[in-house]
Amino acid sequence: MHIPVLLKETIEALDVQPGGRYIDCTVGSGGHAAAVLEQSSPGGQLLGIDIDPKTIEIARARLEAYGESVLLINENFANLQDICIKYDFFPVHGILFDLGLSSLQLNNDERGFSFQYDAPLDMRFNPSQEVTAANIINTSSESELANLIGTYGEDRHSRQIAHYIVQQRPIKTTLHLAHTIEQAIRGRRDRIHPATRTFQALRIAVNHELEYLEGALRQAISLLGIGGRLVVISYHSLEDRIVKQFMRREAKDCICPPSTPTCICGHKSSLSLISNKVITPSPAEIQFNPRSRSAKLRAAEHIITRNEQLFYHDIAEGLCFPAGVEAKGWRRPALVEKLRRTFEALQSSSF
Ligand SMILES: C[S@@+](CC[C@H](N)C(=O)[O-])C[C@H]1O[C@@H](n2cnc3c(N)ncnc32)[C@H](O)[C@@H]1O
Repeated sequence: MHIPVLLKETIEALDVQPGGRYIDCTVGSGGHAAAVLEQSSPGGQLLGIDIDPKTIEIARARLEAYGESVLLINENFANLQDICIKYDFFPVHGILFDLGLSSLQLNNDERGFSFQYDAPLDMRFNPSQEVTAANIINTSSESELANLIGTYGEDRHSRQIAHYIVQQRPIKTTLHLAHTIEQAIRGRRDRIHPATRTFQALRIAVNHELEYLEGALRQAISLLGIGGRLVVISYHSLEDRIVKQFMRREAKDCICPPSTPTCICGHKSSLSLISNKVITPSPAEIQFNPRSRSAKLRAAEHIITRNEQLFYHDIAEGLCFPAGVEAKGWRRPALVEKLRRTFEALQSSSF
């Protein structure tokens, strides 16, 4: 089984409430999703997305007991907005991304994610996608491979590894690749297996992980109701950097370079950081689940922007919400109170 990472911290960061609606963009085998459904009961709803059709079937079996409260979709979270529009699932109270791959995928001896098993170099989350890790390894030029391993694997031996790989081609299996990398950096000591970083780089490249993440975070904001929470768990520094920079930028009113004398960007903050500090697993969790050791959780709350203030101003006169929104269970006393204060401040402000 895959053990969900930072489970308690995730539920707290999402501020899961009974009757709330949540999206798990990486539902995996449904560990976090089950906890969200439990906590949001009665009346909670969850939309679970996963790009891997085998994984979604595992989640379906696990979450069957929640009946119509859960909707599972085999899709790429890069299409988050379209999915939510298609299934009329917005605005929502919380959106979760638990990035990377699950233990079920890593420990599958046929999918090629791990060098613990001899398997074809595949690494696709989505088996209907054409490009596999073997395609990248056997068709890229030496400099392309070196760049890929250096950038996505952050491996300082990237040039030597790429050189050896090109000499050993064709390379079709995980063990052949792992042995090639061992030979390439023979004698150099590291605390992790020498193939770890190259395998990470290949997985990121095959599945376009970083590109999809950036786009999906942007879409997530537009789907969150006011006060809704965005929670992201990442497992390596490249992902975490994207999440950190995204949240910090969206929490600022101006993103002009510091040298600009007056603001020309017109950017308005749409998020407020729940905490400036990243949340990491406790020593006890790492001992129980060593795969959690690199996890970093970041969370932010969707705040009302000036444009939204203008939009909501009319409908908020008399503090009534649009009927559709209320009918979907969006109304929460704390949020209503928050809106009331915002509008009162608005009416007394110069704008
Ligand atoms: C760490 S696992 C999630 C585990 C899950 N939270 C649980 O408790 O079981 C990450 C999942 O994200 C999925 N995934 C990765 N990239 C995706 C994408 N672009 N769109 C949708 N799902 C994706 C993977 O297939 C994998 O199942």
